[in-house]
Amino acid sequence: MALLQTQNLIAHYGDFQALFGVDVHLEEGETVAIIGANGAGKTTLMRSISGVLNNQAEAITFDTDKIGSTHAADVLKKGIAMVPEGRKLFPSLSVEENLLIGAYGRKGNGPWTLETIYRMFPVLQERRNNPGTALSGGQQQMVAIGRALMSNPRVLLCDEISLGLAPVIIKDIYAALPKIKETGTSIIVVEQDIGQALKVADRVYCMMEGRITLEGSPSDLSRDAIHNAYFGASA
Ligand SMILES: Nc1ncnc2c1ncn2[C@@H]1O[C@H](COP(=O)(O)OP(=O)(O)O)[C@@H](O)[C@H]1O
Ligand SMILES: [Mg+2]
Repeated sequence: MALLQTQNLIAHYGDFQALFGVDVHLEEGETVAIIGANGAGKTTLMRSISGVLNNQAEAITFDTDKIGSTHAADVLKKGIAMVPEGRKLFPSLSVEENLLIGAYGRKGNGPWTLETIYRMFPVLQERRNNPGTALSGGQQQMVAIGRALMSNPRVLLCDEISLGLAPVIIKDIYAALPKIKETGTSIIVVEQDIGQALKVADRVYCMMEGRITLEGSPSDLSRDAIHNAYFGASA
């Protein structure tokens, strides 16, 4: 059985339907990428899994629990942590305080502490007393990833961690993912940057207009198939 699974997941914002029966799964230890254009529903899917948006309980299974209607704080305690789109640091807090907030939802012991996060991102140790907002975009993204890891999650959800960053910085950020995977954490990365996603993922889903349009391993998917699933066959 998969570690995490959605079944016929539906989401609405008022009258607007954003997800139309999404089925995805994540195996223990796997890194899965979800790619799709702006507005495809990727963030809505991440918000649903992390409990920011609630659904029917049966729509999402984590381990053996039905968590579709579980609130975000409890989802975090169960072991699913999110790096939200746009980083969302606490501006009045220092780097270290932002990281420590992440430990608040800590489920148990695990590999991630201030020390191991500073080892992975040494620049954060240098800047530990700076306010989060005094950092570059890439450094802020490192804090957001570190903050999520501080709960020692079983599943890490990363929503567009490359957005707005220079290519050289994106490379640094993405270099962290294999290190995180090595600790046994299962990962979902949401991306508009197809190339980056295909490099790190064991398996890929393509999303368009609230539906999954393609699934496969990066080596099995042709550029044409991805292009059609991402933009639509007529694009
Ligand atoms: N808070 C909201 N209220 C109304 N519509 C929303 C809201 N958030 C997202 N949407 C709409 O839901 C759809 C999916 O958005 P989103 O999940 O953010 O896509 P993605 O992350 O793939 O860019 C889009 O059409 C978007 O306009
Ligand atoms: Mg998004």
